[in-house]
Amino acid sequence: MSYEFITVHTEADKVGVITLNRPKQLNALNAGLMIELGQALKDFDANEAIGCMVITGSEKAFAAGADIGAMATYSFADVYKNDYITRDWETIRSIRKPVIAAVSGFALGGGCELAMMCDFIIAADNAKLGQPEIKLGVIPGAGGTQRLPRAVGKSKAMDLALTGRMMDAVEAERSGLVSRVVPLDKLMEETLGAALMICGYSQIASMAAKESVNRAFESGLADGVMFERRLFHALFATADQKEGMDAFVNKRPAAFKNHQANQHDAINAHELWTFTLSLGCGLSESESTPWNS
Ligand code: CAA
Repeated sequence: MSYEFITVHTEADKVGVITLNRPKQLNALNAGLMIELGQALKDFDANEAIGCMVITGSEKAFAAGADIGAMATYSFADVYKNDYITRDWETIRSIRKPVIAAVSGFALGGGCELAMMCDFIIAADNAKLGQPEIKLGVIPGAGGTQRLPRAVGKSKAMDLALTGRMMDAVEAERSGLVSRVVPLDKLMEETLGAALMICGYSQIASMAAKESVNRAFESGLADGVMFERRLFHALFATADQKEGMDAFVNKRPAAFKNHQANQHDAINAHELWTFTLSLGCGLSESESTPWNS
C-alpha cells in the first residue's frame, strides 16, 4: 500500500517500521496522517511475521503536535460531532503487538501523546518533549493530562501542562517518560535492536506482557495482580512455555513457534480466562485471549 503522510518498511522481515513523513510541517499530525498510521499499525499487527513495530519521525521532529493550521478554524460542533481525536487517533490502543516510539527532536502536544500511546519510548539525545497546548488556549486532547502524570507524577505533569515548557531527553529519562536515551546517530540501531530482541521471544508472551502491564493503569493492585496471574497461568497452555523452559533446562537457545500447545491445554486456558472475566476486571467476552491469536 502506498501512503501520502507516512513511509512504511520492514526490518529483517520481523519489525514493522512506520516513519511519520510531513517534514516541512515537523510531522504535524493531521487526520490523513493519523488514518494512515492506524492502517499501517493494523496491517503489521495482523501480519504473522511481524513481532514488533516502531514509530519514528525525522531527526528534527518525531511530531510537533496536532496540525494547528487544520485545527485553527474548527468549531465546537466540528470537533464534537466528528469525534475529533477519538475517531482517527486511537487505533494504536487496539494494537496487540509491542509498539516502540523512537523519538528524536520535537515530540510536542499530540506528538508527545502519540509517543506515550506507544509501549515505550527510546529517545535520541536531541529529543524535546512537552505539552505546550496551554500556549494555544487549549489543553492536551489526546490523553496527555492522563498518561503524562502516570509516567512522570503529578508535579512534573502539572509543570509541563501549565507552563508549556519542553523537557530535554535527560529530564525525560530521569522522570520515567522515556526508557533510554541514546546518541542521535544510534537511535534507530538501538531501537531496532530492542525490537528484534522482542521478536526473538514468544509473540504470545510479549502480547500477554503488554496486556498485563497496561492493565496496571486500568485496575487496582489486587485485580491487576490477579489479571497477571491468570495470564501467567494461561501461558502454560502454550508450546512456547514448554520450549522456553526446556531450552533453559537443556542449555540451548529457544526457538519459539507462537502457537498453543494442544486442545486440552487450550480448554484449560479458556476456563482460566472465563474465570478472569468473572473477577470483573472490566473485560468483555469479545476481548481476545493470548492463546487464540
Ligand atoms: N501544526 C502545524 N504546523 C506546524 C506545527 C503544528 N503543530 N508545528 C510546526 N509547524 C510548522 C510551522 O508552522 C512551520 O511551517 P512554515 O514553514 O510553513 O511556517 C514549520 O512547521 C516549521 O516550524 P517552525 O518554523 O516553527 O520551526 P522552529 O524550529 O522555529 O520551531 C517548534 C519548532 C518549537 C516545534 C514550533 O514549530 C512549535 O512551537 N510548534 C507547535 C508546537 C505545538 O504547539 N504543539 C501542540 C499542538 S496542539 C495539540 O497537539 C493538541 C493535542 O493535544 C492533540
